[in-house]
Order: sequence, then structure tokens, then C-alpha cells
Amino acid sequence: MTETVHKLYTSGDLSDSELKALIETDDMKAAELLRSCADEVRQKSYGKKVFLRGLIEVSSYCRNDCLYCGIRRSNSAAERYRLSREDILACCENGYELGFRTFVMQGGEDAFFTDDFLCPLISEIKEKYPDCAVTLSLGERSTMSYERLKEAGADRYLLRHEAASPGLYSKLHPQEMSLENRKECLFTLKKLGYQVGAGFMVGAPYQTTDHIIADLRFLQELRPQMIGIGPFVPHHNTPFAAEKGGTLGLTLRLLGILRLMFPKVLLPATTALGTIAPNGRELGLQTGCNVVMPNLSPVKVRKKYDLYDNKICTGEEAAECRGCLQRRIESAGYKIAQERGDAII
Ligand code: 5AD
Ligand code: FES
Repeated sequence: MTETVHKLYTSGDLSDSELKALIETDDMKAAELLRSCADEVRQKSYGKKVFLRGLIEVSSYCRNDCLYCGIRRSNSAAERYRLSREDILACCENGYELGFRTFVMQGGEDAFFTDDFLCPLISEIKEKYPDCAVTLSLGERSTMSYERLKEAGADRYLLRHEAASPGLYSKLHPQEMSLENRKECLFTLKKLGYQVGAGFMVGAPYQTTDHIIADLRFLQELRPQMIGIGPFVPHHNTPFAAEKGGTLGLTLRLLGILRLMFPKVLLPATTALGTIAPNGRELGLQTGCNVVMPNLSPVKVRKKYDLYDNKICTGEEAAECRGCLQRRIESAGYKIAQERGDAII
């Protein structure tokens, strides 16, 4: 297995059968070699730098009904909120002072967030903080909407593809959602000049190794600037409440594989990874990750952006994720980058 890791390290790719063996291995030596190769490759491009993205969770309303997600529309027990324009601007002001140079507005697919609402808001943020990047993560929208948001100043868009295999995609999503449309959105965003982030959950119900290989192949085709993966974590009020969550071991293996397949990609150590293990994000950083996304949302709404159970950073004590993450990043041997951190691809 260590030879397979070496081949991935030197060539940046593997055959499907080699990938399958590496994804499924329980060889600890291979896992450690993968980790150290991934760290070496990230350091070649990025040194010890870690980029921060301030995450503003703008709405827990969602018209979608993804089976895994705690804020799906069918979850009548979900507490709904949306931030006002003033709330969002206050998050940016606070974030700028804390040193953030990227603001990510993420939310459910909430019809309240029209282009007429978002465009002036994005323009105002860009005017106030011209040295900052604005990232949107607001789901599937029309090409015209993506165009208008880009013109207003949005720089980046995060839209996980969730599952590149049609069979798995349809088991995780309601009938009315389609993988075709999701892929179409991603290619449109790229064409419009956004820096794009795609990705998937690790250990989602029904997911097999072949499905994961299909995700890796799709990512090779799309060539996004960022790849966000994290373990599936069950939410108690969804149809997947009783399913098993994704494991730390598999998530870390995939992070290492992604770093070797995409040497320059932006790879976040996600909140979900920090949720399934207390040092999950630190381990991610040591396995090729170079981005973390501290929560900048007002503390009073954090519990309500409830995608999965036991999500970290939702309590009063987490008011200051910036400081918490700085300590964690430094303890893992890395340092926070001061710049915006645009992709170098
Ligand atoms: N476990 C882990 N990740 C989840 N997401 C949604 N629900 C869950 C869950 N139960 C992820 C999706 C989405 C991102 C914002 O959160 O991949 O794209
Ligand atoms: Fe939010 Fe540690 S990062 S509490």
C-alpha cells in the first residue's frame, strides 16, 4: 500500500482499483505516509499558511429537502431565522476587526434572499472592505442570478456537488432535485469567473467506495479552486437519524488523497471534522488542509443553523472562534495567513 501512496505522490493520480485499495486500507503505515506526503505537498505550495474564512450563516430557512440535513423544509421542529442586512454588515465589521479578509455568506435556499436584496449588500461590503473577498454559499440559483451577484462584486461561490453518482445523489435528495442541474450550476459558476468550491460528505448513507471514486473523478473534471469535504453526521430530526456517521480515519485518508491529486487546491478542515473528533481540524491541517472557516454568525442564531447533531461553535463560550482557531492552528504547527488567500490555480 505504501507503494500506491508513493505513486499518488509522484504522479498525482491512480487507477480506480488503486484508489479503491487506498480508500479502503486499514494499513496504519500507509495512512501515516499519506499524511506526511500530503503535508509536504501543501507546504511546497503554501508553506505553513492557513487561510481564514469568516462564516456568516445568513438563514436557516430552506426550500430544499435534502434527506441528511437538519434545516430541510420537512423538519418542522427546526428553528428558523434570517439575518437582516444590518446583522450581516455588523458581522463583517466585527470580522474585519478580527482580521478576516474573506466573508462567506452561507444559508439555506431562502427565497427572501433575492438578487435585489443581495446585490446592493455585496456591493456595500466590497466598498467598505475593498481588500476582502466575498464568498457566497446560497445553493442553486439561475444563471442570471449568478451573473448579477458576480457583477455586484461576489468573488467566490461554494456549492458542494454532494454526490457525483446519479444513483447515490437520488438517494440523498428529494425527487425534484437533480444532479444534472447541480453540475450545470457548478460549470456555470466557473464560466462566470467565480472561484468555485465543490465537495461531498464522507460516509453518507448508501455511499460506497465506488461512489467516492466517482466524486474524485468529477472533481478532476470540474477542477474547482476549493474542495470541501467533511464527515456525514446524523441529525436526529431527519430520515437519516439512525444512520452511522462518517469516520475520522476515512475523512483523513480522503483529505490526504485530495491534497496529492490537487496539489494547489484550497482544502478546508471543516466544522464537521471538528465535530466528530475534538482535534479533528488540527489533524486535517496536518493531512493537507490549508483553510479553516471560523463561525462569525451572531451567537444568538448559531444553534439554529443546525445542519447536524452536536455541531461545535454554537454555545456562548464559542463567541470567539477566531481566537480558538488561532490557538488550534498554532498548536498544530501552522500559522494564520494575513492575506485574502485566493486560489493559485
Ligand atoms: N452532516 C454533515 N454535513 C452536512 N451537510 C448538510 N447536512 C449535513 C450532515 N448531516 C453539509 C452539506 C452542505 C454543507 C453546507 O453542509 O454537504 O453542502
Ligand atoms: Fe469555534 Fe473553537 S472554533 S469554538
